[in-house]
Amino acid sequence: MRADTAYMSGSLLLRTSERESLPDSLIIRHLIFALIQQRHRHNMTRLPNIIGNWKMHGTRDSVRALLNDMMARLPSRPAAQFAVCVPAIYLSIVQEQLAGSQINWGAQDLSPNPPGAHTGDIAAEMLRDYGCRYVIVGHSERRTQHGEDNMLVAQKYAVAQRAGLTPILCVGETAQQRAAGETHMVIAAQLEAVLQYSGVQSLAAGIIAYEPVWAIGTGDTATPEQAQVVHHDIRQQIAACDPVVAQQLPILYGGSMQPQNAADLLAQPDIDGGLIGGASLQADSFLAIGGCA
Ligand code: PGA
Repeated sequence: MRADTAYMSGSLLLRTSERESLPDSLIIRHLIFALIQQRHRHNMTRLPNIIGNWKMHGTRDSVRALLNDMMARLPSRPAAQFAVCVPAIYLSIVQEQLAGSQINWGAQDLSPNPPGAHTGDIAAEMLRDYGCRYVIVGHSERRTQHGEDNMLVAQKYAVAQRAGLTPILCVGETAQQRAAGETHMVIAAQLEAVLQYSGVQSLAAGIIAYEPVWAIGTGDTATPEQAQVVHHDIRQQIAACDPVVAQQLPILYGGSMQPQNAADLLAQPDIDGGLIGGASLQADSFLAIGGCA
């Protein structure tokens, strides 16, 4: 392993040039963070999260068929914790078919408001009523197609959590932002909104999904190295507020994850699972990704 890769993965190693250029306080901070990370990795018993995002796909018949297929193929001891985030209109079918199974479920969006006069919206309490465990917030398709900004996403994150849901906070940069060297800045701002609004402890009961916008639905997956760099960066930003929360926080990768590329992505030290779009619409590919974990 190259020393700079070791550094990125939270190893105790620092390059000589880094040791010479960094102040002692930063080196000590790096070592504490790396030690906690190593301990966490050794002690980690939690299964990786493989979460399907069905987006706006399905009919009553196809949803029933897909759930049946998933249940039939699910190994008795899955290597991953599976869940599906489905169109809200199908939640009752999903609850009916998955209740008592090893597969959890959730929604793809929620209103930032409590139940009331908000035509067309769905409240966190309603999602709980249908047994949802998760809700996706800030998916890039909602950010772009519905003009959701970081503040609104932070509000949705907080409202979901208050209702007892686990929010899956999506962050990620566009191709243009990556080309302009803005990846860190964009994602830091997306995270900062939640940190400011709800505090770092809120991430102790949340999930982050790094989804590079250019990789979503394009077949153009981030390389494991590209993804690891950003995942590590995300964890470092959280660690600056609370190293323990940072180490326990599941950070999923999303963007054209397939059975063919999942093993290499999931082998990265800071990738704790996947948020799967297209490949979650077939039971075999979805479960196969979990088998790579
Ligand atoms: P994809 O979608 O796997 O089809 O790229 C991922 C997502 O948008 O959550």
